[in-house]
Amino acid sequence: MSTGRVVEGIDPVTFDQRAASLDPARSQPAPDNAARVVRIPTEALVYEMRDDAGRLEMVVLPIEGLGLWGTLYGFIALDGDVRTVRGLTFYEHKETPGLGGEVDNPRWKALWTGRLAFDDDLTPAIGVVKGPAGSVTEAPYGVDGLSGATITSRGVTNLLRFWLGPDGLGPYLTRLRGEGVSN
Ligand SMILES: Cc1cc2nc3c(=O)[nH]c(=O)nc-3n(C[C@H](O)[C@H](O)[C@H](O)COP(=O)(O)O)c2cc1C
Repeated sequence: MSTGRVVEGIDPVTFDQRAASLDPARSQPAPDNAARVVRIPTEALVYEMRDDAGRLEMVVLPIEGLGLWGTLYGFIALDGDVRTVRGLTFYEHKETPGLGGEVDNPRWKALWTGRLAFDDDLTPAIGVVKGPAGSVTEAPYGVDGLSGATITSRGVTNLLRFWLGPDGLGPYLTRLRGEGVSN
């Protein structure tokens, strides 16, 4: 996590990032953060999809952070430019069905595709706005807020900013961009 380099000697099939985050030998305390991430694992499991020439087509990153009722766990996928969002999904959360649980609504999830996770300075900029955001052109960094679920919406913004930022996967993403990104 701190160098962004690929680690040899860890089997990605059996590596459990959530267990690592709880293990003092394999994690560090996180600096104070709005996503309420408590510990950062020394190593993280990411997925790089490449074409036959080895060019990056997509990278899938683990994300987690506090909603209203508990931690949301999921993934964000970025295109080969390491900037454009391909998709966002949560595989585990405790939010209320019909309110924060609307993070699972396919129509809401579809709003993420094509938005930009980072601004021109490569600072994490993507987030959930209050109310409707508009099209990708109108709101490149914003996704519609979930009605009646401001706390969950804010939680999603906070966790994305954390994991895409310097205390999260920022060093890895910087290294990935440095190897030459594809569009
Ligand atoms: C039973 C119950 C379940 C709720 N579940 C959620 C939730 O999952 N996520 C959330 O952000 N707010 C939830 N809320 C609402 C929050 O308490 C708060 O009112 C809301 O986030 C404000 O959002 P709004 O400004 O869009 O109305 C719930 C409220 C009640 C009474």
